[in-house]
Amino acid sequence: MNTSIESVEGVRQQPYEGPLLDVRDLHVEFKTRDGVARAVNGVNYSVSAGETLAVLGESGSGKSVTAQAIMGILDMPPARIPQGEILYRGENMLTMSKEERRRIRGQKIAMIFQDALSSLNPVLSVGYQLGEMFRAHEGASRQEAKAKAVELMDRVRIPAAQERVNDFPHQFSGGMRQRIMIAMALALEPDLIIADEPTTALDVTVQAQVMDLLAELQAEYHMGLILITHDLGVVADVADKIAVMYAGRIVETAPVHELYANPAHPYTRGLLDSIPRLDQKGQELYAIKGLPPNLMRIPPGCAFNPRCPRAQDICRQEVPQLFDVTRDDGVPAPGRGSACFFWKETLHDE
Ligand SMILES: Nc1ncnc2c1ncn2[C@@H]1O[C@H](COP(=O)(O)OP(=O)(O)OP(=O)(O)O)[C@@H](O)[C@H]1O
Ligand code: SF4
Ligand SMILES: [Mg+2]
Repeated sequence: MNTSIESVEGVRQQPYEGPLLDVRDLHVEFKTRDGVARAVNGVNYSVSAGETLAVLGESGSGKSVTAQAIMGILDMPPARIPQGEILYRGENMLTMSKEERRRIRGQKIAMIFQDALSSLNPVLSVGYQLGEMFRAHEGASRQEAKAKAVELMDRVRIPAAQERVNDFPHQFSGGMRQRIMIAMALALEPDLIIADEPTTALDVTVQAQVMDLLAELQAEYHMGLILITHDLGVVADVADKIAVMYAGRIVETAPVHELYANPAHPYTRGLLDSIPRLDQKGQELYAIKGLPPNLMRIPPGCAFNPRCPRAQDICRQEVPQLFDVTRDDGVPAPGRGSACFFWKETLHDE
């Protein structure tokens, strides 16, 4: 792909071929009273324009901390980034000036959080808050800003946008509030949206509607989208590829349907086996035994070894790298990787 974009000042940037976002060997740690919590331990992932990456993992696996590092919204200290690069269109955001960083945040990369109610200001109308984006960034007048707010509310299909533009956040349902958050993220037409559990707080049917809307807008604007979730069921239909996180590392990457059909990491297999399935009604649901590790004392070797049904001696001694997963004929499967010494055996598990 060969794209050239208008920068914020209207200066044309160089055409750039490559992923919009490329996270390389990212490490994040937190200094706490009890010691250093290693929340992110060498994350690698990338997203291109028009592509949706789902980041999947249990609570505490480092999904949000990685996103916060990308957005530059970590409190440092206690957080520290001892290693790694976060490339936006090939440029390392970690070495940019605060000013450059601020310009990318919100305008080029926007974020949607789980809890709309705490992200929106309760005493300002949603129209005002949406309009503020245009006033602050584009110098729009009050009237123009309001018109744009209504337009955005229409875009995210809030019924009767014109009449509701002066309503306050609490006057909207949870699903509608999340649509407002999506509208906020879209306002400045970013290249990339990071949505951190955007539907977790919603009812199942509303979850699907919001997810569909997000996917539709992503395709329409040809944006990159990172969907953070602990629920594979929610993202399976909209994601192109998945990165599974465990203890601050990516343990498996794959195109979404291949991961579903044939996981190559015992942790992913455990996650899939613990999703309720209609065709197995009445059967007891599998649960991965044990708990995620304490990030101040990550087990040596493969961090998953104390919980892994397949663990051998080597798993307690060596850290598995993300191995290329190959097909039976030895040809690498595009986009597939597994940080397991026994990925081949896992792939062939029934
Ligand atoms: N400010 C902080 N101080 C100390 N430790 C922190 C801080 N923020 C995060 N952590 C640590 O980082 C770990 C990873 O947190 P993160 O929020 O990325 O998890 P997550 O994968 O997003 O989980 P969830 O599904 O619950 O949102 C947490 O378990 C926590 O121990
Ligand atoms: S490397 Fe060993 S412990 Fe880790 S997931 Fe694979 S089999 Fe299990
Ligand atoms: Mg999180």
